Amino acid sequence: MSDNTVKTKDGLMKAEEPLMDHFTSKDYKDFYEPAQDSYLFIDSLLNDASSLKSMNPYICLEIGSGSGFVINYLAKLLGPNNGSRLFLATDINPKAALATVKTAQRNSHENLDVINTSFIQSLERLKGHFDVVLFNPPYVPTESEEIKLGGIAASWAGGIDGREVIDKLLPQIPHILSGKGFFYMVLVQENKPKNVISIMDTYGFNYKVNISNFLLINLNAKNNNILSSSVLY
Ligand SMILES: C[S@@+](CC[C@H](N)C(=O)[O-])C[C@H]1O[C@@H](n2cnc3c(N)ncnc32)[C@H](O)[C@@H]1O
Repeated sequence: MSDNTVKTKDGLMKAEEPLMDHFTSKDYKDFYEPAQDSYLFIDSLLNDASSLKSMNPYICLEIGSGSGFVINYLAKLLGPNNGSRLFLATDINPKAALATVKTAQRNSHENLDVINTSFIQSLERLKGHFDVVLFNPPYVPTESEEIKLGGIAASWAGGIDGREVIDKLLPQIPHILSGKGFFYMVLVQENKPKNVISIMDTYGFNYKVNISNFLLINLNAKNNNILSSSVLY
């Protein structure tokens, strides 16, 4: 596959997971500890490694990077491309943004920058230039008020149907992604994924679904003819 992958005992090619030994369990009281959804995310990126590499992304963004586990994995998987590839991460939780910085330093990813902001505020001028956008959102259904709690609650509090944060981002996606761009997002059944897909369909996106306990959808503009949407169940 590439120099950034290692061969496991069973012969499978696998990108190395980022080093995370700079955090203790105490740190994870302040920001999201990589969990089953984070691991599903990196598995999906690995499955799509060849199409991601052949697309040759210039700017990759993770919204809500938490500990930095996922974006640092992507940085390792795709590599710096002779310094021409930029990785960006945002998080609304300042402690999570700082954690992502530390994970980038621990993994020597000098081409990864982190901003403490909501979604892509302050990166407006890069709109339309993001080739890969990742989002493992706060998807747990909660009271709307819980979204405002901030801190670690921003990791999970998703409001009604776990959709309130997700629904703020969806209309922005067509403007954020470059023409060839991919958008990856975790959803759970409570988020009414069929409805998410139909909203994105109206914006002209096809999708691919990885199913386990979670759904990880990959959306790409229909006119690229890369993804052919299948039945979502
Ligand atoms: C489920 S956690 C995922 C963390 C990490 N990406 C992972 O997969 O391990 C969701 C993250 O989104 C962040 N977040 C929530 N709302 C956000 C917003 N409006 N803009 C940016 N980040 C946000 C949270 O602070 C949290 O770090």
